Amino acid sequence: MPSKSGLEIQSQYRSAAIHSTVGIVGAGSIGCFLGAILAQDKSLSVQFFGREALGLELAAYGLSAAFPGGNASAIAPAFYTSMVSLIDCDVILLTVKATSLPHLIPQLKKFIRPDVPVIALQNGIGVDTMLSASLNNPVYRAVVPFNVVKTGPGHFQQTSAGQLLWPQSNDNRLSYLAAIFRQHGSGVQLCADMRAVEYGKLLLNLNNALNALSGLPLKQQLLQQDIRLVLAAAMQEWLMVCKTLQIKPQAMTALPNELLPWLLRLPTWLFRVLARQMLLIDEAARSSMWDDIQAGRRTEVMYLNGAVVRLGIETGVPTPVNSAIVELVKHLEQGEAIHLSPQQLRQQLLASA
Ligand SMILES: NC(=O)c1ccc[n+]([C@@H]2O[C@H](COP(=O)([O-])OP(=O)(O)OC[C@H]3O[C@@H](n4cnc5c(N)ncnc54)[C@H](OP(=O)(O)O)[C@@H]3O)[C@@H](O)[C@H]2O)c1
Repeated sequence: MPSKSGLEIQSQYRSAAIHSTVGIVGAGSIGCFLGAILAQDKSLSVQFFGREALGLELAAYGLSAAFPGGNASAIAPAFYTSMVSLIDCDVILLTVKATSLPHLIPQLKKFIRPDVPVIALQNGIGVDTMLSASLNNPVYRAVVPFNVVKTGPGHFQQTSAGQLLWPQSNDNRLSYLAAIFRQHGSGVQLCADMRAVEYGKLLLNLNNALNALSGLPLKQQLLQQDIRLVLAAAMQEWLMVCKTLQIKPQAMTALPNELLPWLLRLPTWLFRVLARQMLLIDEAARSSMWDDIQAGRRTEVMYLNGAVVRLGIETGVPTPVNSAIVELVKHLEQGEAIHLSPQQLRQQLLASA
């Protein structure tokens, strides 16, 4: 039975939901997880757009999602491998990786009706600019501050804490989806300044590339002071770019952003104590950029550390550490094996700083 506030929200936005169809473009970890939650609302029709192999898997096993304090499932989700049915959608959640967007945009342009809001959930900077330059649709940003992993056939699991960061908007369709996430999911936080959120998330995502370069699981990597020194320097560059742009990135941890480089530079024995919360991660977890390299895929590095370099050039802030990280990741993307110890990584990446 929905709570009173849930009922109020539902009636307030019901007009936005009647016969509404939500398109999840990029049925992968994030798309399937969020789509499973939205599918709990009987007045929404949720359609997934993705690869054939996953479509067959969902047809056989159904779709399920688990998050702290709950779960959601859909027995026979509507799944399409062609984008033609996008024409039926009244709101789009775009959940492909940022690297897939350039190929996808012409199809979005062809099939999405121009009044339909498009909500981009990628990590990194520059995605909304790219979409707005190509589509006539209203484009919004949302940010996922937690991790989602596919842990079994058709099953997607939230593996770290956090609430979906969703744009505050006058558009009833967005407000209705937020109410559904709040009612059926692990929570949602409405944000007036999504740019600050996007820039704050990037600060943490600067570690993805270092994780891929180190070849270590995330927890082991964080316990290497040499690599933490590089991460601290990369963060410092981004914070300086933000300061020059007069943007205050939203803090994503209990610590103010400015203190994160200080924390990372501490000796490991002290870091272990003060960063206990940060180290509560699965022993085997690695960044998705590591996964991308192992699978021979292009990474999102140009939207992450690459965005720091690009905005550094625009603002006149030197970003030698992020620049060196991008260059090494590009070598990895070319299939080159990079066997550098944490100490060698520090020497190489901080050499020009
Ligand atoms: N997973 C997380 O925990 C997490 C957390 C926070 C933010 N994010 C961000 O969320 C975004 C999505 O990440 P994800 O982990 O969900 O990625 P993902 O699991 O790779 O999902 C994206 C899916 O979209 C598919 N796709 C791409 N182009 C397509 C096309 N033209 N037609 C049909 N399907 C297409 C991909 O297939 P192919 O692989 O075959 O291209 C893939 O199955 C990324 O920007 C990521 O950084 C992820």
